[in-house]
This record gives sequence, structure tokens and C-alpha cells, in this order.
Amino acid sequence: MNAHDSDRMAEVLESHGWTATHSASDADLIVLNTCSVREKAEQKLRSEVGKLAPLKARNPGVVLAVAGCVAQQEGEKLLARARHLDLVIGPDNIAELPALVVEQMAGAPPRARTVFDIDAPRFLAAAPRAGKAPVSAYVTTMKGCDERCSFCIVPYTRGPERYRPSREIVGEIARWVDAGAREITLLGQTVDSFRDAELPSPASDDPDESQFPELLRRIARAVPGLKRLRYASPHPRHATESLARVHAQLDVLAHHVHLPVQSGSDRILKRMIRRTTHAEYLARARRLLAARADMTMSTDIIVGFPGETDRDFEATLDLVREVGFTGLFGFKYSPRPFAPSLKLTDDVPEETKSERLARLFDLAEGQTRAHLATLVGTTQHVLVEGASKALAGRRLVEGRTHRNEIVHVEEPEGRAIIGEIVDVEIVRANKHSLVGIPTAAALEALPRADGRAAPNRHRRMLPLLSGS
Ligand code: 5AD
Repeated sequence: MNAHDSDRMAEVLESHGWTATHSASDADLIVLNTCSVREKAEQKLRSEVGKLAPLKARNPGVVLAVAGCVAQQEGEKLLARARHLDLVIGPDNIAELPALVVEQMAGAPPRARTVFDIDAPRFLAAAPRAGKAPVSAYVTTMKGCDERCSFCIVPYTRGPERYRPSREIVGEIARWVDAGAREITLLGQTVDSFRDAELPSPASDDPDESQFPELLRRIARAVPGLKRLRYASPHPRHATESLARVHAQLDVLAHHVHLPVQSGSDRILKRMIRRTTHAEYLARARRLLAARADMTMSTDIIVGFPGETDRDFEATLDLVREVGFTGLFGFKYSPRPFAPSLKLTDDVPEETKSERLARLFDLAEGQTRAHLATLVGTTQHVLVEGASKALAGRRLVEGRTHRNEIVHVEEPEGRAIIGEIVDVEIVRANKHSLVGIPTAAALEALPRADGRAAPNRHRRMLPLLSGS
């Protein structure tokens, strides 16, 4: 979400004549985009702001801005605390950024602008450029959150739920695909609570039903050139029967769902105000897993929430085993301003939080490893996204399977592989990724790379990676 907001800021500025520079000392404007979901992210901001003080002293003309959730949360307080800051701008005020910067350049006093656009929600449309689109792009479908999970700051930094009209969403996806994107990830704080009066109503009057499954259907129908569709992050409450059904029906949907659970203990789930129990979550997860033969799931978990006992934590480990998550993000509980859980004593010792997190990661990594090992020897459809990040310069590309596993493949000579879905035989599993060789037929089918002679024989592609 933050990376997406940063892209929108860059686009808004570019459309007003700004260009990007790679060095802070050359910049006329520096924007730090921020996250405040956990305290660590906030600490990072403090240290970055501090580092900019000497730069501002040397070059008083540079405009320094803080954007994002910390900006929204702290507002004027940030300006008072860091005298060298000029602008504080909330997530709903991005469109105003160019005008606010011009004001600052003209000598206006420092300003905080953090107003939610509740009455007339605005979703900045991306401006994809032909040939410049990433293989995988993000599209916002809603913003804000009406849940009140007691640990969470998001309702206070992103405001109440507002939905983007599905027509606009479909239009933006079509523009991305025309520009070369192959995969879209829909973004929203509770992406599956989607509503739009233009879409057919949910089949039942179950209050957990939303129009998210209908949105997915509409996208699949309207943008046939889209190869893969993902979404982040759903709330388990809306992971209904209809959502499972749409996963079984739409081939474009990834065979993977990231469904944050946060805890496996009913007592803690209640204190977290998650509005689902262990048993309900498990049933919902199993229904999704049953939608496709090779479906996988990942989740988010908080350890050391106030009052969490060893027994509560064991219930979390049980749930991780029962669902069989193949991916997991774990966090130590961190008290956040405004969050209702602030009233509860943060009573789990730091040491216990660390121990629990280590045990959780141990379990999850074992499950990931076991799952990846089952894929060795199989052929997977891999959407190739670009050069391997892990081993830049080794002529390796990386892509992802229909679920979410990263696969490294040697870049074939003379063939354009980026943006293609390629059949890859998996030859090895690393700790967090796979290594594979495209099948001969898949290589043959690839378009020729511009300006390069096509190879007359396929080199045998050997996996180059070792370790993880
Ligand atoms: N403490 C620790 N983790 C948190 N998260 C959200 N709020 C907190 C908090 N106060 C985690 C949740 C969420 C993810 C984005 O961050 O697991 O799903």
C-alpha cells in the first residue's frame, strides 16, 4: 500500500513537471513516505528525519515533507518536533502535494495537511505508460477500515472504509494490461469488504457477504488479457462461501490467499476484536483451500498480545499446523497510539515475545520447506517478472508460480522471457524459493528478443543457485 502511494506521489509530481533525482543533495523536494502499523516503522522515520537536518542547514531551499500514516497520525506535532520539516501530508491529500510544495517554495510557514476525503473519496488513478509497465502492478479498490481490531492503528490513520467504483477499477486494470502488465494485485485494508451499487447484490443476506466476489468476476470478464489476479489483504469475516466459489470458477485468480488470522486462541481473538474464532477461521480457510487442488495460504500473526499465555500461544501453533500455511509473517505485539489495546497492559515480557516468534517461525519455515520440496520434479507455470533480485548480474530471471512461490530460471539467450508465463520444470528447492528449467516446448514458444539472433539450439539450462 505504501509503495503504491509512493508511486502515486511520484506520478502527481511528474505531471507537474518534477523529475526524479537519485541523490538527496541534488533534490529540491524530499518526501519521506511512512508507515505506522508497528512501532519499528515509526522509529525508522525518526532516524531518517534526523539525518536530513544537516542537508536542510546546508540547503535551506530544499522542501522536506513527511507523507503517509505517521504524517496522518502526528500532524502538527511532527512539525513541532522536527523544526527542519516543511510539510506533513496525509494519505488522502496526495493530490494536493504539488500545490503545497509551491507554497513552501514561495516561503509559506510549515504546514500540516491531513484531512480525510470522507464526503468525496478520491482514488488517484495510475497512469501506466506503454512498454514501461511492470509485469505485476497494484490497483487500489478501497481505502480505510471499519473493523476495530484492538491492536490496530489503521482505522485512525486511513479513516473509514470508502470503495472505488468498480467501473474505475476495471478501467485502470485494462490500462495496465494494455501497457504490458500481466498480473494485478488488488489493494485495500479490508479488500474483501467491497461494495458497489452497480454490481449484483450478494446471493444471501449474510452480513459477512460483500460484493468482492462480484468485483473479481467483473474484472475477469472485462479484462481477458489479464493473466493473474491477486488481492491483499482480506479479512476472514468476508472469506465466505461465495469467495471460495469464485476461486473455483475463475482461472485468472491466483491459487493462493493471504488471510491474516493474528492469533489461534479464541480468548485472544476476542480481546483483539477479530470477530472470528479459531474454528470459524479454520472452516473458512479449509473451504478456500478446497477451491483448487493446489491452493495454498499464508497469514499474519501477532505474538505476545496483552494477556497471551503459553496455552493461547499453543492454540496459535495448532492453527498454523491445521491450516498448513506455506507462508507466514509474524510480529511481536507493539502498542500503537489510538489503538484500543493501549488500555490493556503490555504484560508479555519481551523475552517471551522473542521466544514465541522464534518458535512460530521455526514451525512455519518447516511447513514452507516441506511444501517447496513437494514441487521438485513437477512442472509449474511461472510468470517471469524480471531479473533475479537475489543474484543480480548472473543472467537469472525470477518469476512466481500460480500460488506465490518464487522461481529462479536462467535467462534464455535470444528469447524474450519477461512478462511470459513459462512451463518450468522445478529442479531444486531452496529455503524460500525454487530453481527451475523451462521445458523445451516452452522455450520454443517464447517470442524472439528484439535485435538478437534466435539460438538454433537450446542450451541445456543448468541451475546456478546454491544454498538459499
Ligand atoms: N503490533 C504488532 N503487529 C501488528 N500488526 C498490526 N498492528 C500491529 C501491532 N500493534 C501486524 C498484523 C497485520 C500486519 C500488517 O501488521 O499482523 O496483519
